[in-house]
Amino acid sequence: MRTRIEGGAVLTAADQVAADVLVDGETVVAVAAPGAVPFEADTVVDATGCWVIPGGVDAHTHMEMPFGGTYASDTFETGTRAAAWGGTTTIVDFAIQSRGSSLREGLDAWHAKAEGNAAIDYGFHMILSDVNDQSLKEMEAVVGEGVTSFKMFMAYPGVFYSDDGQILRAMQRAGETGGLTMIHAENGIAIDVLVEQALAAGRTDPRYHGEVRHALLEAEATHRAIALARVAGAPLYVVHLSATEALAEIANAREMGVNAFAETCPQYLFLDVDELARPGFEGAKFVCSTPLRPAEHQANLWRGLRSDDLSVVSTDHCPFCFTGQKDLGVGDFSKIPNGMPGVETRMNLLHQAVLDGHLSHRRWIELACATPARMFGLYPRKGTIAPGSDADVVVYDPAATTTHSAATHHMNVDYSPYEGRTTAGAVRTVLSRGRVVLDRGEYLGEPGHGRFLRREPCQYLR
Ligand code: URP
Ligand code: ZN
Ligand code: ZN
Ligand code: ZN
Repeated sequence: MRTRIEGGAVLTAADQVAADVLVDGETVVAVAAPGAVPFEADTVVDATGCWVIPGGVDAHTHMEMPFGGTYASDTFETGTRAAAWGGTTTIVDFAIQSRGSSLREGLDAWHAKAEGNAAIDYGFHMILSDVNDQSLKEMEAVVGEGVTSFKMFMAYPGVFYSDDGQILRAMQRAGETGGLTMIHAENGIAIDVLVEQALAAGRTDPRYHGEVRHALLEAEATHRAIALARVAGAPLYVVHLSATEALAEIANAREMGVNAFAETCPQYLFLDVDELARPGFEGAKFVCSTPLRPAEHQANLWRGLRSDDLSVVSTDHCPFCFTGQKDLGVGDFSKIPNGMPGVETRMNLLHQAVLDGHLSHRRWIELACATPARMFGLYPRKGTIAPGSDADVVVYDPAATTTHSAATHHMNVDYSPYEGRTTAGAVRTVLSRGRVVLDRGEYLGEPGHGRFLRREPCQYLR
């Protein structure tokens, strides 16, 4: 099966140039001057007037994640379909080691959830929630299976939390085995004290979620994570960074030449803490951790994205329905399952950011495709359009618009954080390994097309 994508402008992190893209089977075989290469094709995709971009790489999703007595509402089937609708063709999801279980059990469970169900390709990170001699030993084998990154939590005591000794030991081991340590940087012990005090004072509404998860407790944990990583001599990647003060810690470390990286997420760029104060418990829709911050943090995050102190935009897609899930926390904000939907909206929101003057077109692709692929050992197979790359290609129409709404989105969740918002640009056609999975509003993908990606170690070290 040969496909020619013609008439568009190919946009990668490195270049923007009028070109045809030639695909043979699952692979890009040439990017050529318009009409220059005679190429018999079974399918021609017209990209006139459009960007031809690499499929999005979302390095932070939680399909079916257990949290707060329930499960994230997207399965691999529904979540990867929604990703494709939004122009994302690769996700890296978090397999979870439960307390008292092995890494092997956690990884097997995640393979079972994904295998045969995913519409696009997927990899796994491994969440360590029980760092002990056995799990430290297992890390090498896990890296050998292409799961080359490990997340630990400084938050959520009693659930996913690791103490500093456990984090240091796992960082040392990650350094030895070629794994990248990802850290959820919030001081969970201190936050739990503030939660207890808030509830005792009758402050039970969602808005107090934002108050107890103080920006300084994100900054302190970020500082500590950097120090532990330096002591361990291992690289560090801080997930879902939201606070100016935490960003300053990353910037300072990077200035010193430390291999410290961070991502932020669209919710911190496009929404702020005021959403948590919506009446009628609606604020629960915006409960995630780290929390939404006051709007003044946003300009600093945009600056960090331009300066590369923030290297990646991922979604932290972890949806819970308002009815039946978020409402577990009526009368106690600490029982609201943490997380927001986003896997379908990221590429479009970031394109809007280009029009708003926050990012260049190439930086859009760098943050959403190329760098996440490099950071997590998938480049140049994913994250770019070049001979030899997987034919994960999106035809993106900058002249169309996208209106975000629960009534029309494809994520399995009963609300949109961006309800009614219109962004400039729209996904027109999506190829996943050479197969057209979406074309002009018609979904053509299927569960099981997506394959597990064995990843290399991080390719982004300084
Ligand atoms: O609120 C969030 N972020 N939920 C997902 C779990 C995590 O900490 O990433
Ligand atoms: Zn987290
Ligand atoms: Zn997460
Ligand atoms: Zn544009």
